Amino acid sequence: MEFNNTQLFEKPITQIIKERTSIRSYNSQPLDSTVADKVIHLLNESKGPFDIDTRFNLVNANLDHIDSNLKLGTYGVIKGTSWFIASAVKNTSTSLIELGYKLEKGILYATSLGLGTCWLGGTFKKGEFAKVMNLKEDEILPIITPIGYSSESRRLMDSFIRLTAGSKNRKPWSEMFFNNNFSKPLTEALAEEYSIPLEMLRLAPSASNKQPWRIVKNGDTYDFYLEHTKGYGKAFSYDIQMVDMGIALCHFELTSIELGLAGNWQQLKTNIKELPPSTEYVISWVKK
Ligand SMILES: Cc1cc2nc3c(=O)[nH]c(=O)nc-3n(C[C@H](O)[C@H](O)[C@H](O)COP(=O)(O)O)c2cc1C
Repeated sequence: MEFNNTQLFEKPITQIIKERTSIRSYNSQPLDSTVADKVIHLLNESKGPFDIDTRFNLVNANLDHIDSNLKLGTYGVIKGTSWFIASAVKNTSTSLIELGYKLEKGILYATSLGLGTCWLGGTFKKGEFAKVMNLKEDEILPIITPIGYSSESRRLMDSFIRLTAGSKNRKPWSEMFFNNNFSKPLTEALAEEYSIPLEMLRLAPSASNKQPWRIVKNGDTYDFYLEHTKGYGKAFSYDIQMVDMGIALCHFELTSIELGLAGNWQQLKTNIKELPPSTEYVISWVKK
C-alpha cells in the first residue's frame, strides 16, 4: 500500500501509540521546563473535532502558595512527580470529547519526547487543582495527568512494550468494529487501508480500560458510537466516557492523517434503527 506520509511528531504515530502506557511511578529527574512548555503550547494551540475552547495548564504541586497539608493529593496513586497538566472545560458532551481529543494528542506528543503520563479522572483532589486553575463558574476540571520521567528502566519498559503491544489487554476487533450494522463484524481485510487507524484506536487508553467505542463502517463513512458501561458513570459528575470517545477520535484521526487518508468529522443522520442497549451515536469520519 502506498501512503503519502506526513509524520506529525519525530516518530511515526503508530510507534508512539504502542509506546504510550500509563506511568504511575516517576524518578527524581527534574522536568525540563522547555519540554513541558512545548507540550502545553501544543495542547492550547490544537484544534479538536468541534473547535471548542479548552484550557490546559502546567501545575506544580510543590509550589509555596499551595497549602502543603492539602497538596494536590492523588491518593497515593501517583508517585515521584509534583508536575501535572490540569484541564478545564464546560460540562457538555462535545467539550468532554474535545478535551479527550486534545489531551491525548498532547500525551502522545509527550510520549514522543520521552515523558510519562497517566490519565486521571477520579483519584485526585479536584478542589485544590480548581483553585490553581482559577476555575470559572461554568467550567469543570475533569482530568489531570502527571508528567515526568518514568522510574521504570528503559529496558524493562521496552520488554513490557514488546510483550503488550498489539494486545495490551484490549477487546478484540469483533467486539468493537462492525460492517453496515451491529450484527456483522468488520474484519481487517474489509477495513482495507483503515485497518491501521482502527487498530491504533483499539490500543487507546480509556477510563478503567472499559473501551466503550463501537465503530460501524458504512461505505465511505465510519460511524462512531459510544456504548455507555452500565452503572459506571454514576461515580463521576461528568460523562467520563465522552472523554474516552475524544481519545479514540484522536488516535483514529492522527493515524489516518499520517497515512495520507483524507477525511473529516461530521455529525450525520445514521440509518441504523435498532441500537444495542446504552449505545448512542456520536460522530462520523467521512472519507474525502
Ligand atoms: C478518562 C480516563 C480516566 C482515567 N482515570 C484514571 C484514574 O483515576 N486512576 C488511574 O490510576 N488510572 C486512570 N486511567 C488510566 C486507565 O486505567 C488506563 O488508561 C487503562 O487501564 C489502559 O492502560 P494503559 O493506559 O496503560 O494503556 C484513566 C484513563 C482515562 C482514559
